[in-house]
Amino acid sequence: MKIRGFSMSDYAQVRRVWEDSGLEILPGDSRDEVRRKIIRDRDLFLVAEEGGTVVGAAMGAWDGRRGWIYHLGVLPGHQRKGIAARLVGEIERRMRAKGVLKVNAIVYDDNTASLSLFRKLGYSADRRSVFHGKRLE
Ligand SMILES: CC(C)(COP(=O)(O)OP(=O)(O)OC[C@H]1O[C@@H](n2cnc3c(N)ncnc32)[C@H](O)[C@@H]1OP(=O)(O)O)[C@@H](O)C(=O)NCCC(=O)NCCS
Repeated sequence: MKIRGFSMSDYAQVRRVWEDSGLEILPGDSRDEVRRKIIRDRDLFLVAEEGGTVVGAAMGAWDGRRGWIYHLGVLPGHQRKGIAARLVGEIERRMRAKGVLKVNAIVYDDNTASLSLFRKLGYSADRRSVFHGKRLE
């Protein structure tokens, strides 16, 4: 299994990983929006490839203050093999090299797999915070 940077030719396979792993597909996940996203921090958007197939993906981003990890997903048949941990570890390594001081991930409070993964990787939940968002489109 190899971890490498995303390119647009991976889009269909990455989209399948997101869908099959049960991630919520949002307007920002369209091909056009992903093309816009990789204008910035292309090197933080990673895929895990096994035998020529994309089996996992994670979209890292740096807004200039915080690093973020979005849409971490691994195909169901490839889970519990350390793929997500490797994807997150590589994003962290690349962020550290850029001088990013803190990385965040938004995890739903009923997502036990993801909560357990991030806890194991040293992330802690800030129970005082409530995530707020507003659609602008
Ligand atoms: C969360 C997810 C990305 C984990 O991917 P993965 O490749 O299976 O995770 P890893 O194998 O790297 O797991 C590393 C550790 O995380 C924890 N973990 C992962 N999946 C778990 C699960 N289903 N239940 C409990 N702990 C889990 C374990 O501590 C695991 O270590 P262990 O296998 O030695 O016990 C995967 O379950 C997934 O794609 N889920 C659906 C999409 C999603 O919810 N993404 C996260 C959005 S925030």
